[in-house]
Amino acid sequence: MKKKATGHSHAKVIFLGEHSAVYHQPAIVFPVPQANVTATLQASNQGVTTIHSQYYSGPIADLPASMAGITALIQKLHQELNRQHQPMNLEINSTIPLGRGMGSSAAIASAIIRGYFAFFETPLSRATLTEYTDIEEKITHGNPSGIDAQTVNVSHPILYEQQQFIDFTPQLSGFLVIADTGLAGNTKTAVNQVREFLEADPVRQELITRLGHLTEVVKTSLTNQDLVKTGQVLTEAQAILTALGVSTTQIEQLVAVANQAGALGAKLTGSGLGGCIIALAPDYPSAKRIAAALTDYGAAQTWIQSLTELNPEENNKDE
Ligand code: MEV
Repeated sequence: MKKKATGHSHAKVIFLGEHSAVYHQPAIVFPVPQANVTATLQASNQGVTTIHSQYYSGPIADLPASMAGITALIQKLHQELNRQHQPMNLEINSTIPLGRGMGSSAAIASAIIRGYFAFFETPLSRATLTEYTDIEEKITHGNPSGIDAQTVNVSHPILYEQQQFIDFTPQLSGFLVIADTGLAGNTKTAVNQVREFLEADPVRQELITRLGHLTEVVKTSLTNQDLVKTGQVLTEAQAILTALGVSTTQIEQLVAVANQAGALGAKLTGSGLGGCIIALAPDYPSAKRIAAALTDYGAAQTWIQSLTELNPEENNKDE
C-alpha cells in the first residue's frame, strides 16, 4: 500500500454516432486529452472515506444521489482492493465540465480506479479498467452503449462497430473545435426521449439507420483524410439529430456560427439537449478563427483538438 497515489483520465467527444450507438449502430469517438481529471488518494485518519471535489466534499456515504454511480464504484474498489478497510481521502480535480457530453462521469470514474489500483499497488489491465468504469456508467446513464467508458481510458480514437470496441488508428489530419453551450444536458433523459420518439412511429427508425450509415462513410473519409467529405457528413448528422429532437436553439446557433466562420461541418456531440458542439477545421488558423467566433458569440468554453495529435505515433501513452 502506498502513502499517496494519483490516477488520471481525460474527456471524450463523439465524432459521429451518438444516439444511434444505443441501437448498436457504429460510432466514432475521440479522446480530448486537454480536458482531464486527476484523482489523488491518501490514507485518511478521519475514520471514514471522504471525497473532495468542486461538486461535493464530505464522506462518500453522503454523496448526492446524482453521484450514486461513483458511490457504487468506490464500494466495489474497497471490496476488491481495500481488504484492511483503510479509510481513504480522495481529491478530485477536473477540468471537464459536467453534463456536456464530454464524458466527465466516465473520466472521473477512470481516474479514481487508476488511483485506487496505484495506491494498492495492484496491476490494472485495460479490460479491468473498462469493466470498473462501466459500473459507474451503468448507474449514472442507465443503459449506455459503453463508448464513454472505452474512450476515457485510451489516448486514441475508438470505433464502435458490430457491438465491438475497436482501436481506430488511421492517420488523421485536421482540427476539431469543441464549444460548450454552457448548458448541461442529461444523457438518461435524452436517450429516453429518443426512444419514445422512435417508438411513436417505426418509420423514424430510418433516422437511426442513416446515422449508422453516415458513421461508416466518415470512417472511410477520415481514413482517406478527406476532410471536406467528413465535414459534409457532420452537417447531415446534425440535421438528423435535430429531427430526433435532441438539438436545441443554443446548439443550432453555435453550429451556424462555426459554419459561417469557415468550419467544414459542425454538429452537436454527446446526448444533446444542451452540452457541446464540434466543428471540423482544415488547419490550425481556421480552427482558431472558428473558436474565436464561437467565444465572441457566447460559448462558455472552447477547445481546439489536433486530430494529428491522436495519431498512434504521436502518442505513446496507451496502456
Ligand atoms: C452519450 O455520450 C452518447 C449516447 O449515444 C448514449 C450512449 O451511447 O450511451 C447518447
